[in-house]
Amino acid sequence: MGDTPQRPNTPKPNVTKPNVRGLYIKTYGCQANVYDSERMRDVLKPLGYAPVDSAEAADLVVLNTCHIREKATEKVFSELGRLKDIKQAGGGVMRIAVAGCVAQAEGEEIIRRQPAVDMVVGPQSYHRLPEMIARLARKTGDALEIDFAAEEKFDALPAREVSGASAFLAVQEGCDKFCTFCVVPYTRGAEYSRGVDAIIAEARDLARQGVKEIVLIGQNVNAWHGAAPAHDPKGGEWRLGDLIRHVAKLGGVERIRYMTSHPRDMSDDLIAAHRDVETLAPFLHLPVQAGSDRVLKAMNRQHTAEQYLSIVERVRQARPDIALASDFIVGFPGESDADFEDTLALVKAAQFAQAYAFKYSPRPGTPASGMHLQVAEAVKDERLSRLLAAITEQSQAFNEATVGRRLPVLFSREGKREGQALGYSPYMQPVHVDDGAHLNNRIAEVEIVGATGTSLSGRLVAAEVTA
Ligand code: 5AD
Ligand code: SF4
Repeated sequence: MGDTPQRPNTPKPNVTKPNVRGLYIKTYGCQANVYDSERMRDVLKPLGYAPVDSAEAADLVVLNTCHIREKATEKVFSELGRLKDIKQAGGGVMRIAVAGCVAQAEGEEIIRRQPAVDMVVGPQSYHRLPEMIARLARKTGDALEIDFAAEEKFDALPAREVSGASAFLAVQEGCDKFCTFCVVPYTRGAEYSRGVDAIIAEARDLARQGVKEIVLIGQNVNAWHGAAPAHDPKGGEWRLGDLIRHVAKLGGVERIRYMTSHPRDMSDDLIAAHRDVETLAPFLHLPVQAGSDRVLKAMNRQHTAEQYLSIVERVRQARPDIALASDFIVGFPGESDADFEDTLALVKAAQFAQAYAFKYSPRPGTPASGMHLQVAEAVKDERLSRLLAAITEQSQAFNEATVGRRLPVLFSREGKREGQALGYSPYMQPVHVDDGAHLNNRIAEVEIVGATGTSLSGRLVAAEVTA
């Protein structure tokens, strides 16, 4: 990757240490934003910025925003109002930056509506934050950076320092699918795959730092592809399945996941990886959005309900215990009662372990926002609650089926109760264990003793499976 990474902690002779400045990043939305926020911390560290717990304690506040639904965007403007008050109370010295997808989509509007905002930086431009901060100090130049240059961004990012046992690794950005409801192709730009060598170098570095689970992420992660590296005698092009097989061979990597996928890119090699690669978690997040072919067509999903179900069947043949997750939108323009019944029928046929359901939210600039026959809010509400009931029943059944089993759990956080640890099963179920404070960042074998629709409780079987 690009230049020699900067190592901010290495003392340099005759160089004054930068003043420590407080950095508060608030993250909204998807796992890509979680990854980007982490990388923004890395980019800002050499400038002396260190994380603090609140906006009040910060010299720089970054809102890393989400534009996917209207509610998410509204939250940003109300949070900016609150930050303006904090800034004023502190004498106006605090800097406010808006990053992420709202920055990309509504950059100029943000600057117009909230003059307390100092910088607006899109998801492909945050490596330029140091430059923007310098410009701000000199009071010169632009406060807006919203170019699309994913390649340049990845090359410019410094080495990562991680502390947890699980880490996201961005392998792909953007989307060329243009589902008619979705802002992602406009906010994150065209599909871009990072090169194999850069990904492997980052994965190896994560494993060296003690990471046990690598989550390959991208808006359309299974569209990832790249030229085979020089050491592969077969040559040609790698798809996501090849990348997974390779990451699985890196020492220290015990669990691999990837998200989020599109049914059109669920290729045979990826399905086969679920059969062959033991460390690939038996979990697949494959959004379907709707069960009616008419609605799927209007959404430009480029597949039918039957094609989706046939992919699910092939994945289950490869990995019978796979936990299938999905996303749904109810109340897409023109969705009739019969269309919605088709969605319920698809849910019944697919048997999901988890699913997210959203009411359709018209997004500016997307084709669906201008479609006739927008569905009434009350109808969306009713469909949402029926769909959620169906999904909850399935996740409850899936979770209950794991009671009595012994599963390796990757512990990543403290639980709500004193001494409790929270981790994830290979099926991505949250698992709580009492008296587990010592388990953090470890994988341990747990006997599952209880289940609800959303989580499991377990008892530690043996000492750690791995240190
Ligand atoms: N309205 C409602 N939900 C949406 N999603 C994406 N765009 C919209 C929208 N305009 C949902 C989809 C997607 C998930 C990340 O968000 O289900 O898979
Ligand atoms: Fe949005 Fe569709 Fe691309 Fe997913 S595949 S990011 S829903 S346009």
